Amino acid sequence: MISGLHHYALEVPDLAVAEGFLQDFGLETGEKDGSLVALCPGRNQEQVRLVQAPHKRLHHVSFTLSPGTLDSVREALDRAATPVIEPPAGATEDGVWIRDPDGTPVQLLDEAPAPPRPAEEVLFNVGGSRQRIGVAQWTQATEDVLPRRLGHTLLFTAQPQQMTDFYTQVLGLRVSDRIKGLVTFLNSGPGDHHIFGFIASTHRGFHHASFEVPSIDAIAIGADRMRTRGREAGWGLGRHTIGSNFFHYNPDPWGSWIEWFSDIDQIDDCWVAGDWEVPPHLWGAPPPAAFLANQEPAS
Ligand SMILES: [Fe+2]
Repeated sequence: MISGLHHYALEVPDLAVAEGFLQDFGLETGEKDGSLVALCPGRNQEQVRLVQAPHKRLHHVSFTLSPGTLDSVREALDRAATPVIEPPAGATEDGVWIRDPDGTPVQLLDEAPAPPRPAEEVLFNVGGSRQRIGVAQWTQATEDVLPRRLGHTLLFTAQPQQMTDFYTQVLGLRVSDRIKGLVTFLNSGPGDHHIFGFIASTHRGFHHASFEVPSIDAIAIGADRMRTRGREAGWGLGRHTIGSNFFHYNPDPWGSWIEWFSDIDQIDDCWVAGDWEVPPHLWGAPPPAAFLANQEPAS
């Protein structure tokens, strides 16, 4: 069953524009089989794939499977009458390919995720903790600020319940929490509060992807970097309600979003999902009006 998010892929009209944007965000880019791929520095795993096409559109999502679960996934797919498909043009042929209830191609890889770049322990003098003694934090805070790993992605869907049923009952994800009538957050077991999820909309689409950085400083330094490179203002800094992570988002060149996060809740097998009526942010400015606009063509 799904053990984690491997990468996501978008169709975009201009790969050069995509490359500049992802580099400003802090990813390393390269060319693979005619597509643009982006990686986190120090992690040998494709995290984003961009395929040239007339319009920006979600192309596929890719997940890793827990060791030894491929056969049970195949059986669950059979039971759900979900056929295996050919890989879509622009994707790799690895793993098993299917379509989710929205028709989005999904790649299931029978492999372990690559380890992220190791991070130093971050010591804090907050609350009752006095962990950092004799060290001037401002001299350290900018040393390691780039994305370490892709953490999660959220998709728009017109059928959140069917999508949730498919990803939980067939592919083994679990519901972490919901924001009533709007957002469903899914986890793959102990670890990050969410690795995937859905935002209710009129049609399917890609909303955002989120990358872990080593600290809250790294988020703000990333936002500064985007600003100095002339990128449009985003949303943040803030702390989320569901998941509790610190966040900053920037709009991407195609009307969706990219996020840095730090300090996300870690859940265990005893986690109980809730149905919440809360705004997405605990503190910080409210989201811009365009934050929940699904700008992908409805098809
Ligand atoms: Fe997020």
